[in-house]
Amino acid sequence: MGIKFRWVLLGLIAQSLIVAGEFFKPFNVSYDGRAMIIDGKRRMLISGGIHYPRATPEMWPDLISKSKEGGVDVIETYAFWNGHEPVRGQYNFEGRYDIVKFVKEVGSAGLYLFLRIGPYACAEWNFGGFPVWLRDIPGIEFRTDNKPFKEEMQRFVKMIVDLMREESLFSWQGGPIIMLQIENEYGNVESSFGSKGKEYMRWAAKMAVGLGAGVPWVMCKQVDAPEYIIDTCNAYYCDGYKPNSKRKPKVWTENWDGWYTSWGARLPHRPAEDIAFAVARFFQREGSFLNYYMFFGGTNFARTAGGPNYITSYDYDAPIDEYGLLRQPKWGHLKDLHAAIKLCEPALIAVRSPQYIKLGPKQEAHVYRDNGSKCAAFLANIDEHSSATVKFRNQAYTLPPWSVSILPDCRNTAFNTAKIGAQTSIKTVGFDAASYLNDPAHLRLMAPYEVSYISESWKFVKEPIGVWSDSNFTYQGILEHLNVTKDQTDYLWYTTRIYISDEDISFWAENQVSPALTIDSMRDLVYIFVNGQFTGSAKGKWIKVVQPVHLIQGYNDIMLLSQTVGLQNYGAFLEKDGAGFRGQIKLTGCKDGDLNITELVWTYQVGLKGEFLKIYATDDNESTEWTEFPPDAAATRFSWYKTYFDAPGGLDPVSLDLRSMGKGQVWVNGHHIGRYWTLKSPKEGCKTCDYRGTYDSDKCVTNCGEPTQSWYHIPRSWLKPSDNLLVLFEETEKNPFEISVNSYFTETICAEVSENHYPPLRAWSHPKASNGTISLNNMAPEMHLQCDAGSTITSINFASYGTPQGSCQNFSRGNCHSPNSLSVVSQACMGRQSCSISVSNTVFGGDPCHRVVKTLSVEMRCSPTSSISAH
Ligand SMILES: *[C@@H]1O[C@H](CO)[C@@H](O)[C@H](O)[C@H]1NC(C)=O
Ligand SMILES: *[C@@H]1O[C@H](CO)[C@@H](O)[C@H](O)[C@H]1NC(C)=O
Ligand SMILES: *[C@@H]1O[C@H](CO)[C@@H](O)[C@H](O)[C@H]1NC(C)=O
Ligand SMILES: *[C@@H]1O[C@H](CO)[C@@H](O)[C@H](O)[C@H]1NC(C)=O
Ligand SMILES: *[C@@H]1O[C@H](CO)[C@@H](O)[C@H](O)[C@H]1NC(C)=O
Ligand SMILES: *[C@@H]1O[C@H](CO)[C@@H](O)[C@H](O)[C@H]1NC(C)=O
Ligand SMILES: *[C@@H]1O[C@H](CO)[C@@H](O)[C@H](O)[C@H]1NC(C)=O
Ligand SMILES: *[C@@H]1O[C@H](CO)[C@@H](O)[C@H](O)[C@H]1NC(C)=O
Repeated sequence: MGIKFRWVLLGLIAQSLIVAGEFFKPFNVSYDGRAMIIDGKRRMLISGGIHYPRATPEMWPDLISKSKEGGVDVIETYAFWNGHEPVRGQYNFEGRYDIVKFVKEVGSAGLYLFLRIGPYACAEWNFGGFPVWLRDIPGIEFRTDNKPFKEEMQRFVKMIVDLMREESLFSWQGGPIIMLQIENEYGNVESSFGSKGKEYMRWAAKMAVGLGAGVPWVMCKQVDAPEYIIDTCNAYYCDGYKPNSKRKPKVWTENWDGWYTSWGARLPHRPAEDIAFAVARFFQREGSFLNYYMFFGGTNFARTAGGPNYITSYDYDAPIDEYGLLRQPKWGHLKDLHAAIKLCEPALIAVRSPQYIKLGPKQEAHVYRDNGSKCAAFLANIDEHSSATVKFRNQAYTLPPWSVSILPDCRNTAFNTAKIGAQTSIKTVGFDAASYLNDPAHLRLMAPYEVSYISESWKFVKEPIGVWSDSNFTYQGILEHLNVTKDQTDYLWYTTRIYISDEDISFWAENQVSPALTIDSMRDLVYIFVNGQFTGSAKGKWIKVVQPVHLIQGYNDIMLLSQTVGLQNYGAFLEKDGAGFRGQIKLTGCKDGDLNITELVWTYQVGLKGEFLKIYATDDNESTEWTEFPPDAAATRFSWYKTYFDAPGGLDPVSLDLRSMGKGQVWVNGHHIGRYWTLKSPKEGCKTCDYRGTYDSDKCVTNCGEPTQSWYHIPRSWLKPSDNLLVLFEETEKNPFEISVNSYFTETICAEVSENHYPPLRAWSHPKASNGTISLNNMAPEMHLQCDAGSTITSINFASYGTPQGSCQNFSRGNCHSPNSLSVVSQACMGRQSCSISVSNTVFGGDPCHRVVKTLSVEMRCSPTSSISAH
């Protein structure tokens, strides 16, 4: 039976119980070898990851409610130590870091919470979530049997557990928290620490459970987790996973439904059919708790992106996109899947292990059947090329390749992972007002979505090259970057002066060679200046740099701007990684061989002057002398630009288009949006994506030859209707005139459903369906279409019931077409935010062509409901 947790109720806690609202009737959480046990009942649980600091508190309720609507029972998040304790002993639980508020929002929505305290998060988050000050604790070694580290870790984990308890957020207090995680994927690095690794792991487990949280703890990717902690799986597929004890349920803590990306890389996408396949296979093979990593990815605001070189967007190709809009068909397909799994839940929890039936060489069924009437079956075809028709309980089922059919009554198919009924949504950034007005369907509307080209009035101020303040200091030799910056900034200037003799100059002239500045090893980015002139740059992770330089006779100033672009977040020995330069810096190709400049006296300057002056802040600092930047001005490297702009009208999310820029950072109304970079991805590698077969992050990529990130999310809550301050620091010679601020919204929606698609899932809740009085097989499938909140369907671009061809944005009529197609669809949908159409001959006034499977394909346009405009 399940493991019981003990805890101590402090008087203090009993008191706060009265103050805090209860979200649930208090309940206990335990588990057995089949499932989590919530309030005495086994549950099949779907969890969705949302990292609270990757969105604003204003966005949280909507994200949580969209997750719930998508069939999620649990919200998962890490706790972000470096966000909560930026300076040792100084805490931040405000704004995006208000974890208590976030957990309460989850509880208010009636969802559970899975909190992964870590405190190592990885998460493509700066330094994996560790505060950078942790490196400076004498004798510290991260994530191993090391006293200083264990003390700090315990202090943070205990603080979070205590905070949650004080706020009555654990299940037994009526709060939403049902499960906790200690450490994170430690099994990946444990062996790097030898026997101390195992010792640390055991210590961490014991320490966590000793904190009296009263809910189960998990360790992911930890096959040697102790008996009292559930070891869990993180991967693209976890159906084959087996926890290390029969007394633990099969839990999938990270189902990677997309992937992250780096500056200069392509954008990964995981097909909805394959995610659904992986999830269905998991529940088919005794899985019981599944978490999507991520359900909403969000944004790495400010300098929170990890490294090396992760982009500001953390969209992750998640079911809810970076801006908080539904990603379709992914969200809708998973919603249908979750509903189908929920229909199976009574049978799944009634049976400890399913009956296995081999249906064919690559086809199999798992049947969950109790002694009574409960029965659910999963039929899988793991053949990645061909579909298969299998016989199950005397009935034939056709299974597309690489798919699972879910039969909640062991007879009717409620869902097949490869058959998408959900709509496709095509989003748009900005708005082409001209084409909008030329479209007669829109003439009666005003155009609230206009491309909001920012005013041409820009001001600028130059950032000095090299040392700019009294805070500079000198040191003989090269200091490690992070030891100097403490990660208060990305930027660190290293400057020195070298003497070049007449002989060297003539040697170079006679041999027609030039000397080169050579850096043995460097990360993440360096700009090289000689005598105030920009000479070159290099980017990479611990790469060698050889930069030819032009030197003059006499003294030459060498200035290196070393930059971090997200600190390392993965791997063992993070505290030793560091940044900047390693090895020696030399001038090669001199007359007398290499000139070793490592041990010269170097002058150091931390950060940029503009950062120090906070010239991005809204309260204007008189010490900054902004000057007009007229349209004919030539842009110079390292400039700060500012302007004011009006927010786009309406309520849609807002996006900043920085395609015309180079690299830098951007702030709006003093809020740090993040780093930007227009580094382009390789031209090749993007090809048509086939959902069939094992997925990996290189399989289905898009955006080849384009900047990895062009658009940057500005949360609505950071904007006023007008006079918003935009400040950029630009590191290259790009001018800001083409920057624009735009609405981001779903403009086109499409769907395709054929008459032999499975019946609507809600039909299953019909009382007569459960005992077979009405046949689900005879119920017509339905098509559902929905615009974003605040938008309605304003035109039908295409509608055909028959044998239409093509796909969204490229549909065409086939040989068979019902003449009523447009009028039926129009009647059902025009002017509505959402609509449903039954896909059957009856609805379309008769069969347009006998003995042919008919399909309904539609394409519609969404426009704002009212002509709201802030202008
Ligand atoms: C939870 O379990 C504890 C210990 O077994 C018990 O005292 C308590 O009443 C239970 N609470 C609920 C809400 O069932
Ligand atoms: C099913 O019935 C058998 C025999 O009647 C019994 O031994 C078993 O415990 C029952 N199983 C369940 C899950 O009720
Ligand atoms: C660098 O620091 C020194 C000593 O604090 C100071 O005298 C000098 O002016 C500084 N350099 C600049 C460019 O501010
Ligand atoms: C960084 O500073 C610490 C002392 O704070 C020192 O032990 C360490 O060696 C330094 N790292 C490098 C790479 O210089
Ligand atoms: C350059 O100087 C460094 C520091 O003194 C020293 O360790 C290294 O051996 C020197 N390299 C060469 C090639 O002389
Ligand atoms: C203004 O400039 C001073 C230094 O001159 C600086 O201390 C301060 O932080 C700056 N920024 C703001 C927003 O006051
Ligand atoms: C099925 O259930 C419905 C409603 O609960 C009931 O009216 C009907 O008699 C049942 N039919 C059978 C065959 O049990
Ligand atoms: C549009 O669909 C037709 C088939 O109906 C296909 O031949 C054509 O390649 C498609 N075009 C695009 C751009 O997808």
